[in-house]
Amino acid sequence: MPDQPNPAQPPLFTWEFAADPYPAYAWLREHSPVHRTTLPSGVDAWLVTRYADARQALADGRLSKNPAHHSEQAHRTGRVGIPGERSADLMTHLLNIDPPDHTRLRRLVSKAFTPRRVAEFEPRVQQLTDRLIDSFAGRGSADLIHEFAFPLPIYAICDLLGVPPEDQDDFRDWAGMMIRHGGGPRGGVARAVKRMRSYLLELIHRKRADLGDDLISGLIRASDHGEHLTENEAAAMAFILLFAGFETTVNLIGNGLYALLRHPEQRALLQDSVAAGETGLLATAVEELLRYDGPVELATWRFATRPLTIGGVDIPVGDPVLVVLAAADRDPARFADENTLDIARKDNPHLGFGHGIHYCIGAPLARLEGQAALATLLTRLPDLRLAAEPEELRWRGGLIMRGLRELPVEFTPAK
Ligand code: HEM
Repeated sequence: MPDQPNPAQPPLFTWEFAADPYPAYAWLREHSPVHRTTLPSGVDAWLVTRYADARQALADGRLSKNPAHHSEQAHRTGRVGIPGERSADLMTHLLNIDPPDHTRLRRLVSKAFTPRRVAEFEPRVQQLTDRLIDSFAGRGSADLIHEFAFPLPIYAICDLLGVPPEDQDDFRDWAGMMIRHGGGPRGGVARAVKRMRSYLLELIHRKRADLGDDLISGLIRASDHGEHLTENEAAAMAFILLFAGFETTVNLIGNGLYALLRHPEQRALLQDSVAAGETGLLATAVEELLRYDGPVELATWRFATRPLTIGGVDIPVGDPVLVVLAAADRDPARFADENTLDIARKDNPHLGFGHGIHYCIGAPLARLEGQAALATLLTRLPDLRLAAEPEELRWRGGLIMRGLRELPVEFTPAK
């Protein structure tokens, strides 16, 4: 911290900002905690950066998730929401709707996506993790984003949904197109989303005729027991599970490993604990990594449906509000030593998975994948080290997600 606070506002949404947004967030929390800005897409929005305000906003029923409430109707021009989703008619998913539809769909998916189902999935996640590490362990070097963090969640979600193994590489390609083009040219993204949608609709048809033990079959079963789920809604649900569970988990693994490699004592603590067969520190470490440099920088869009005040600032009806989870999770008013990575942190009610009725439904799966990925890598490749200078690494500067484009590492080749 400088002795004299710099009164000038640091730039937002530049390359430097993408590499390290935290100084800018500290400035906003202090000087303009509910801040109106123009986003790179040209849309004006409010950024909420203090923890207490963020929690309040995430749970405030006057803020709608439905882009139809945006005064500028920017969603019509495709400037709000997931790129490509509008053209592909996948809008009616959990992150775009309010009660009562949200309540109905969330109840349905909760019946199928239970903590028990996730717990039973643990051996499969372990197997996937080991298989991916096998593919580069003998080489002595790897790019952990492309070869590890990226494929792991895609294969995991495909398995969970019931996408047959022979089709999973198509998903890997489509997801790759979405992540590469996110925020960039829309043609490729729209094409990938369209293909995914027609594939999912066909898969839902097939499952209806031959129910299995997977999540899509579970959704169909749950909808057959009373509550209604249209085919479009089922496809949108499968899509949002893939979409929301994919790049987020890539970034949990990528950002998490990077933070550990840059904090050798914390990494050594974790490595020793995992080697001793303990799981307690692994669990708190994943929570701390979510707080310290979480995958979701800004929560998804919210729009004021009635006038409201956040942190003393009046928000007009129709205005978009973006809750900056990454800023809230470094708020010194809530977290002691907010800029310190402390994998044993106990008092850690971070907002990395959101808060309120849209709280991440995939949190148990994300925790499982994050814990398996970190523990297995540190055990199997104990001298893992960065093979680039931190300044050389490139960050994906999307609006909602924050993550590395690549994470080159070296290690002693293992079998
Ligand atoms: C919602 C974060 C992994 C599925 C959310 C929200 C956050 C979040 C912050 C709330 C967004 C908002 O309120 O605007 C994360 C992080 C993950 C992760 C950090 C990984 C580390 C997953 C996984 C899945 C998933 C693995 C599913 C397989 C969802 C869904 C929602 C959601 C469906 C919408 C829930 C609703 O609107 O009711 N997630 N997520 N997420 N997440 Fe996750």
